[in-house]
Amino acid sequence: MTANTPAPRIIRIGLAGFGNVGAGVFKNLEKNADLLKERTGSVLTIAKVVVRDLDKAREVPVPRELLTTDWRELIADPSIAIIVELIGGTTEAFDLVCAALKAKKPVVTGNKALLAERGRELFALAEENKVPIYFEAAVAGGIPIIMAMQEAFVGNHIERIHGIINGTCNYILTRMEQAGISYAEALNEAQAQGYAEADPTLDVSGWDAAHKAIILASLSYGFWVKPEDVYVEGVDRVTLTDMGFAAKLGYTIKLLSVIRADELGRVEVRTQPSLVPRSHVLASVKGAFNAVLVKGDIVGETLFYGKGAGQDPTSSSVISDLTAAAATLDGSRYSGFVPHGLYGQSKPADETVTHYYLRLNVADKPGVLAQVATLLGDRGIGISSVIQPEDLTAESTPLVLMLDDAPLKAMKLAIAAIAALECVREEPVWLRVETLE
Ligand code: HSE
Repeated sequence: MTANTPAPRIIRIGLAGFGNVGAGVFKNLEKNADLLKERTGSVLTIAKVVVRDLDKAREVPVPRELLTTDWRELIADPSIAIIVELIGGTTEAFDLVCAALKAKKPVVTGNKALLAERGRELFALAEENKVPIYFEAAVAGGIPIIMAMQEAFVGNHIERIHGIINGTCNYILTRMEQAGISYAEALNEAQAQGYAEADPTLDVSGWDAAHKAIILASLSYGFWVKPEDVYVEGVDRVTLTDMGFAAKLGYTIKLLSVIRADELGRVEVRTQPSLVPRSHVLASVKGAFNAVLVKGDIVGETLFYGKGAGQDPTSSSVISDLTAAAATLDGSRYSGFVPHGLYGQSKPADETVTHYYLRLNVADKPGVLAQVATLLGDRGIGISSVIQPEDLTAESTPLVLMLDDAPLKAMKLAIAAIAALECVREEPVWLRVETLE
């Protein structure tokens, strides 16, 4: 520092939650402290850490005097300027964020469930108190997609977003496909690597990705999409059998989130395992990596790729938010969700249109394909290709059909009718096929 360089500002931070990501924030703020000081003119220092158990052994050591079990201490301490919420859940975390906003302390959170379910209330409170909430770490881990949506694409209508935004599910599907291991084995591996949420149900049910999709949709279209308006299916219904057929047909299976406005301005938000053409760039996103493909009306297609989970990538996003929050402390800048009235309506899931993959187990006798084709045709659904492996000895056989565009409602009616056919031996399996257009 020269005689003319101003002394760095010391910014004291309260960190609530010391799990995988919280520990990463603590570790990496120390690791890159000099760089951050040079770039921002501030020293970002964790002044207090809220933990559940004071005596737990920790891989990232924290001085005992920083620990507390009561988040209210962070709010009450006037020297703490910014609150980081990484405790998860939607009840205590909600109380903590509300208390921080009322105390005029900027909040940084990685809590996608909290924002997806209670974002409307929290951003209203943020607006009322003129205090920002930052949430880069809530969507796609280390990928700066929130900043891109809020700043880089501010001049664009967002036409559509396709995202692989759950690292755990992408890891599971990749391992099943590449190593031929079972779903359960692949899930165990993902947990061992630290990708899964504490309760992996949130990941595998598709809801973790759906929460992120709700946030992206809300930022894109200016109204808080309600969780009940979102269509969600998990990866637990994906089998090695369907992966095999998908591969033969030139597809891979991904847990894909789709966000799109139609010509009436209605917004479709859904997350489900989908067939993706192997030739598409999203098919090459493997393991715990995430990718978000955004199409804006001015910018065209853009693709963001990176680690969507894990300690270091996610803490990188929290640290970025901390520097942004620090820059607002002189009261000059408000950042958060900006509501507007250009869209405002969700599209009913039954009206969403895609191609489909359908696998049946049928009696191997004449006329079966004709019966199935008739039930599909009656509902306006065309068949684009059929596979039926030849097995002259078996009494029943798989029948795999690729179907043309249809609304989900017509597809569900067709499936119910097909399932009731005498020649259909098992519950039909169907997946969406995305053309990514
Ligand atoms: N468990 C999430 C994932 C990371 O696997 O992508 C945090 O959302």
